[in-house]
Amino acid sequence: MKRMLSGIKPTGQLTLGNYIGALRNFVNYQDDYEMIVFIANLHCITEYQDPEDLKKNLTDAVALYLACGLDPNKATIFLQTDVHSHAELGYIMACNTYLGELNRMTQFKDKSAKGEKNMTAGLYTYPCLMAADILLYDANYVPVGEDQKQHVELTRDIAQRFNNKYGETFVVPEPLIAKVGARIMSLSDPSKKMSKSDETNKGCIYLLDDLKAARKKVMSAVTDSIGIIQLDKENQPGLYNLIEIASALSNRSMEDIVKEFEGQGYGKLKGYVADVVCAELEKIQTRYHEIIESRQLETILKEGAAKAAAIADPKLEEVKKKVGLEIKY
Ligand code: TYM
Repeated sequence: MKRMLSGIKPTGQLTLGNYIGALRNFVNYQDDYEMIVFIANLHCITEYQDPEDLKKNLTDAVALYLACGLDPNKATIFLQTDVHSHAELGYIMACNTYLGELNRMTQFKDKSAKGEKNMTAGLYTYPCLMAADILLYDANYVPVGEDQKQHVELTRDIAQRFNNKYGETFVVPEPLIAKVGARIMSLSDPSKKMSKSDETNKGCIYLLDDLKAARKKVMSAVTDSIGIIQLDKENQPGLYNLIEIASALSNRSMEDIVKEFEGQGYGKLKGYVADVVCAELEKIQTRYHEIIESRQLETILKEGAAKAAAIADPKLEEVKKKVGLEIKY
């Protein structure tokens, strides 16, 4: 069975973008792949997080993994800091990554271009830790949304370079990006990605949003004045995004949805999208509350970390040996 690995960084509440672009795919793949999914808590602190908020977001993220359908009997689910090899290999990877490569990462470039102050060294070297997350497990595939593709590609470069320098060590992973839903856009500004750090809170649907609030966000999504229901991503990005969301959640093709609503007003289509979104959120939220009450999270994470460490720790040992970090008497 081929191995698949991915993670989410809960710097806030998980979003519909995380669900459509990543989480629901983890669930779909867990039967056919050896699935390893973690909570990237070290990645969260590359920017300051209020400690109490962070703790709550991490707990919610694990509960949401399960509520969305990840099954701990099939997938290995753990918290990044519970497997110490991540941080250690992250450092070794940083020593095998060039500044030029990190300077080219668009996430970092965008933040610098915006003139963000107080950017940390952790934020800059973040792709090295992400490479370690993946390479520790010899993952064949990494299911991610479009915005993480560049990081997985850098991971491939680092792995190949390491293999050439020190001998065959890492499996070179491939990013796996879904055809529909790989980049869900903000509902209030369809030129931007739907993101946890949405300042207005209108463009982003959170998985734990109150259903009424979620419906309102869909109904007031920014569209256009063209007024024709069709698939024109360039000129009608807001409309396209809504149809894409509905398509991803209903497993209907985008064309099929367009056919149903052709010739009707945007309000009708938005009503349908809101129904689909709210039905999915309701299902997830019901399970989320059951999971939080059942108090099984700690046990699941402990067992997950033990399974993960059994793969990651020997890999780190192999790397240390190859790099020459060990002393043999
Ligand atoms: P993060 O937490 O930003 O996002 C988690 C996953 O959700 C996807 N995603 C989206 N997909 C579609 N539309 C959107 N609007 C949207 N927003 C987010 C992301 O592409 C991602 O797949 N660096 C990673 C976490 C990470 C990781 C890893 C992932 C750390 N180590 C190793 C894979 C393998 C991150 O910040 O994702």
